[in-house]
Amino acid sequence: MSNRPTLFEELDPEPRLLMGPGPVDVYPRVLRAMSTALQGQFDPQFTRYMDQVQVLYRQVFETSNQQTILINGTARAGIEACLTSIIRPGDTVLAPIFGRFGHLLKEIAMRSGANAVSIETEWGKVFTADELETAIKKYKPAVVAISQGDTSVTVKQPLKDLGEICKRHNCILYVDATASLGGNALPVDEWGIDIVSAGLQKCLSGPPGSSPISFNDQIAARVLDRKHTEAGIRAPGTRDADGPIIQSNYFDLPMLMDYWGPDRLNHHTESASMLYAARECARILLEEGLVACQHRHQQTSAALRAGLVAMGLELFGDQNNLMDNVTGIYIPASCGNGAAVRSDMLNDFGIEIGTSFGPLDGKIWRIGTMGYVCRKSNVLRCLSSLEAVLRRHGFKSVPGAGVDAAYALYQNA
Ligand SMILES: Cc1ncc(COP(=O)(O)O)c(C=O)c1O
Repeated sequence: MSNRPTLFEELDPEPRLLMGPGPVDVYPRVLRAMSTALQGQFDPQFTRYMDQVQVLYRQVFETSNQQTILINGTARAGIEACLTSIIRPGDTVLAPIFGRFGHLLKEIAMRSGANAVSIETEWGKVFTADELETAIKKYKPAVVAISQGDTSVTVKQPLKDLGEICKRHNCILYVDATASLGGNALPVDEWGIDIVSAGLQKCLSGPPGSSPISFNDQIAARVLDRKHTEAGIRAPGTRDADGPIIQSNYFDLPMLMDYWGPDRLNHHTESASMLYAARECARILLEEGLVACQHRHQQTSAALRAGLVAMGLELFGDQNNLMDNVTGIYIPASCGNGAAVRSDMLNDFGIEIGTSFGPLDGKIWRIGTMGYVCRKSNVLRCLSSLEAVLRRHGFKSVPGAGVDAAYALYQNA
């Protein structure tokens, strides 16, 4: 064996335009924030940044929840922290499934010791408030766990009435807003959402690896009843709470509350670069304004969809309940499972688009218009590239029809 180390080449990835269901291109300002010098989590300047993150994400979630923090890890880390901490062994948890991520919520609930139950609807549809209430009456869950937008199916579950329904039936409402936050309205307090989690890599246009979460005082009291502080850091005389210990140390919300709160009781080493990223993502969103940002997502999706339809493609999913940041389209018969088209889009035009999972694998493409990517130039670039690629794969449309329709939509906006 040679004594020379194996080094590989310096990182130099091809430029891509990430128009899949996420991750998407990161705001340059966020990338710059990530290269800021690190500090440790005991540094008073850094704890001030942590406090600022809390203030920023309260505004993003439209909540006054004191408990608004980051979980280090991708969006499912936030989901696990929420569910593992609020579910007591044996609790019934209802996870309405309208796509891949309902299955994920059910599985995480089950792994957290819940009696996990679900109702299902065909992928591409959502539930009515009545259907949800009927299921809640039937199962009497302690927790309802539901995604707002499920990227696998590109549809958005209306949530406006669900908080009130859950309150009436005395159950907690947890919402996974990973795919929707920032591009779709989510007034957490107004809609009565008890606990919510998200990720950075969709409409917030940050890197995956940090999950903002927020929960109200009722949830705080519920999890504090299970507080067991790690032996090596607890103050002398600390008493454990009476409730069952939370299975995960990393995702233990009571310990995280002490870490983010005035006690600053040490827990994990804060992922400083991700905190800087999350901070900048929120600053960019709030600077633009929540409503303006949602409007930009709606308008861009509308332009993309107008273009796709004008090209003769068929949109997927319940058209009255589409997410404002990702669009599903049926793969035309001439394109088989669509993999070759995706590959040509990537290799010839540098544009990533996605297919889906499970029953929709190879049946639909998903095109994301989120955060930094959500802009007119990218819509036009995507439509013109797709038209050219589709022609090579036997699907013909009127040349320029897609771009013209998108242009027209922008002009009339
Ligand atoms: C609705 C939803 N929930 C959860 C996740 C999981 O997120 P992550 O891959 O960051 O763990 C995703 C990812 O696409 C998602 O779209």
